[in-house]
Amino acid sequence: MKKLTVVDHPLVQHKLTLMREAGTPTAVFRQLLREISQFLAYEVTRELPLTTKTIQTPMQEMEAPTLAGKKLALISILRAGNGLLDGVLELIPSARVGFVGLYRDEETLQPVEYYFKVPDALSERVVIAVDPMLATGNSAIAAITKLKEAGAKDIRFLCLLAAAEGVAAMHEAHPDVEIVTAALDAKLNEHGYIVPGLGDAGDRMFGTK
Ligand code: URA
Repeated sequence: MKKLTVVDHPLVQHKLTLMREAGTPTAVFRQLLREISQFLAYEVTRELPLTTKTIQTPMQEMEAPTLAGKKLALISILRAGNGLLDGVLELIPSARVGFVGLYRDEETLQPVEYYFKVPDALSERVVIAVDPMLATGNSAIAAITKLKEAGAKDIRFLCLLAAAEGVAAMHEAHPDVEIVTAALDAKLNEHGYIVPGLGDAGDRMFGTK
């Protein structure tokens, strides 16, 4: 399965345009990211398995739908993933949360893990990895490889912006992982930034340079 879902809802596209604008202040950028993350979370959870349970309404007993299985796991790929985390957690408050930290070794250019803390029983959970920018895909691919090594079997990847290169690389490395994004941008520049993009998502959400 090679799946890419672009959430083209008008509110998402409008908010994303505001985020792309260079003059959008940090606080507004962060708030918009939180808002968009909820639309993306809505889409990425569309196929979650349901079961039923017997409940009593004020009128009568009924068999009502409820999420099946263990609580899902949200995995933030540090640091920019944290900008998506809170909004997704508002929608799925009982989700378990993990973090994967990777940096790029400047000599080998390969991602190196510096932090890995994830919920238990990953193999029994739907796992949603979050990172706003799928650019080269190197860090997302490495993070998902680590999650699979930790037992994850059902993984989805949620991002704000994806470049075609990153999507192709992810599909190649992890064809089983569904990608949900707000937009698919044209390309990467020579520094690996998405263009037109929105710049460095971490810097823009945290006000760093
Ligand atoms: N990471 C970012 O924050 N922005 C890009 O354009 C690419 C990677």
